[in-house]
Amino acid sequence: MRRDPVTPPAPAREPLAADDAQWRALLEGRPDAPVPDDARDLHALYAPLLAARRAGPFAVAHLAQSLDGRIATASGCSRWLSGEADLVHTHRMRALADAVLVGVGTVLHDDPQLTVRRCSGRSPVRVVVDPDRRLAGHERVFRDGAAPTLVLAAADRCRAGEALGHAELVPVERTDSGLDPREIRALLERRGLSTLFVEGGGVTVSRFLAAGALDRLQITVVPMILGSGRPSIRLPEVTDLHGCLRPRTRRLALGDDLLVECDFRA
Ligand SMILES: NC(=O)c1ccc[n+]([C@@H]2O[C@H](COP(=O)([O-])OP(=O)(O)OC[C@H]3O[C@@H](n4cnc5c(N)ncnc54)[C@H](OP(=O)(O)O)[C@@H]3O)[C@@H](O)[C@H]2O)c1
Repeated sequence: MRRDPVTPPAPAREPLAADDAQWRALLEGRPDAPVPDDARDLHALYAPLLAARRAGPFAVAHLAQSLDGRIATASGCSRWLSGEADLVHTHRMRALADAVLVGVGTVLHDDPQLTVRRCSGRSPVRVVVDPDRRLAGHERVFRDGAAPTLVLAAADRCRAGEALGHAELVPVERTDSGLDPREIRALLERRGLSTLFVEGGGVTVSRFLAAGALDRLQITVVPMILGSGRPSIRLPEVTDLHGCLRPRTRRLALGDDLLVECDFRA
């Protein structure tokens, strides 16, 4: 399912960031082209990701979280936790990807469009993980036709080729821990979708991380304390700090927020 730039209608754009021309040049330009002075920050953030994408299959996840590690209130409200710069960043990450993936919880709470609207670039294929088919089909991703959409459901809950609105249902074998994120990556790669952006929520990103199915994880830390709410990353308990993940990181300012990117392959 390589993206066809002709079939889906272009989603309505929202106001583009002031540096969108520089972003477009970076996205479409030659990797070895000289970097203009006014594009240095963009280059610092995105050139390593573009290089990773050129190097082969690549999966990166992103979550915006408060200082106390919450991605939403207990009732599920997460709009807008992080600032405008992180919102634009999320759209740029979509534009970099062949596919953007979210869990059913995010679709139920946010009814997101998952298209590229705040920057130049094509919308990726949208992928929703909904093992037990909790989604009815009236959600926006199934009706707007703005980009090809897949629903990954347990093989005991759907037939290959079945439709949900405009979306295609794709059966995935159930394992003891749900749908295997590595198998999800493999099936997307078989469809030509080798750069994957996992956009949330916390449960979905945690499962990809626990399965070793992420090359990078971006956490945008927002200077806010919620004190309660939905947690960000959750992994099986460790008894001492030797058992925790300690990846190489880089840190970049995104307006008032701080993006910390973990590189698990470095
Ligand atoms: N701050 C942010 O960056 C951000 C980003 C996105 C969303 N959000 C917020 O986060 C909340 C939703 O996040 P969430 O963590 O509760 O839910 P979620 O990650 O969106 O969805 C979790 C559900 O997706 C299914 N799922 C995901 N991966 C699976 C796998 N490998 N195998 C089987 N099932 C899988 C499961 O469905 P079943 O339960 O049916 O088994 C799971 O319970 C919303 O409030 C949303 O607003 C915040």
